[in-house]
Amino acid sequence: MTTPLPISLFPFLLLIPAFCFTICHANSDVLCIQSEREALLKFKNHIIDPSNRLSSWVEGGDCCKWIGVVCHNSTGHVHQLHLAAPLSPYERSKLRGKINPSLLDLKHLSSLDLSYNDFSSIHIPIFLELHSSECGLDNDPSPTSVNSTKSLVVLDLSGNSLSSVPKWIFSLHGLVSIDLSGNSLEGPIPDYFGNISFLEVLYLSFNFLNSSIPNSLYSLNRLQLLSLSDNQLQGTISSAIRNLSSFTHISF
Ligand SMILES: *[C@@H]1O[C@H](CO)[C@@H](O)[C@H](O)[C@H]1NC(C)=O
Ligand SMILES: *[C@@H]1O[C@H](CO)[C@@H](O)[C@H](O)[C@H]1NC(C)=O
Ligand SMILES: *[C@@H]1O[C@H](CO)[C@@H](O)[C@H](O)[C@H]1NC(C)=O
Ligand SMILES: *[C@@H]1O[C@H](CO)[C@@H](O)[C@H](O)[C@H]1NC(C)=O
Ligand SMILES: *[C@@H]1O[C@H](CO)[C@@H](O)[C@H](O)[C@H]1NC(C)=O
Repeated sequence: MTTPLPISLFPFLLLIPAFCFTICHANSDVLCIQSEREALLKFKNHIIDPSNRLSSWVEGGDCCKWIGVVCHNSTGHVHQLHLAAPLSPYERSKLRGKINPSLLDLKHLSSLDLSYNDFSSIHIPIFLELHSSECGLDNDPSPTSVNSTKSLVVLDLSGNSLSSVPKWIFSLHGLVSIDLSGNSLEGPIPDYFGNISFLEVLYLSFNFLNSSIPNSLYSLNRLQLLSLSDNQLQGTISSAIRNLSSFTHISF
């Protein structure tokens, strides 16, 4: 039997990309919650990680020290997942595959960053519970069949290859910031963004959206930043935009 090495002896720090450096250090005294560790491992087991970025995610470890995982500093609950692909010319560093609904077990997750990976169709309704766990996997579930949680506040799916906005997003009523820029979104801007009433920041730039701005967006009275540049949008901005009292920035 060998005794476990103290974490400081692991060559772990050398592997942490710079973007994660400060974040991943926030948790030095917290031991992760077992059910959440299992949820993360299940998530890992269902995705493809060609460059082994998640090599620190191993059975029995303190998940609060895993790369990309940020736990709450007193409760130990997983609070944020930062799994953006590092900026690198190598496609190999991109995660792809299926997002396992085990992420549902992270009841305190408030921020999910999967940007610049290669998830082309995020079918599995993260954070939503389906009535039937299997039958919905290849289609977006209808909003009535799902159960949302309010914990998720920040969702970053930029730089993947999504061709449509995953419908489950519109059931995440607690979202404050959504980044879907740099995907391959086509067709109209979905009206349903108007349902996410706490939304403050919405990035849709660098896609192929080709409608006018739907009126529902003008009812988002907390909206502060709307980024629509580099699309194929039509029409004019309605004077109703004045109704958005906190609105400070729009980019076309
Ligand atoms: C925990 O985080 C909060 C805010 O994020 C901070 O104010 C507090 O000092 C931290 N507590 C510890 C023990 O690090
Ligand atoms: C939704 O979640 C709540 C609380 O977790 C639960 O009581 C309720 O039964 C769920 N509804 C459905 C339709 O699954
Ligand atoms: C917008 O894009 C969709 C999907 O590419 C296409 O079917 C539709 O005809 C386009 N509409 C306009 C007004 O260009
Ligand atoms: C958005 O809100 C409208 C009106 O409240 C509702 O009918 C619709 O089902 C909602 N759509 C989604 C995708 O949640
Ligand atoms: C904007 O506000 C005016 C005056 O309060 C109201 O008449 C109008 O319906 C509002 N427009 C939208 C799109 O909410």
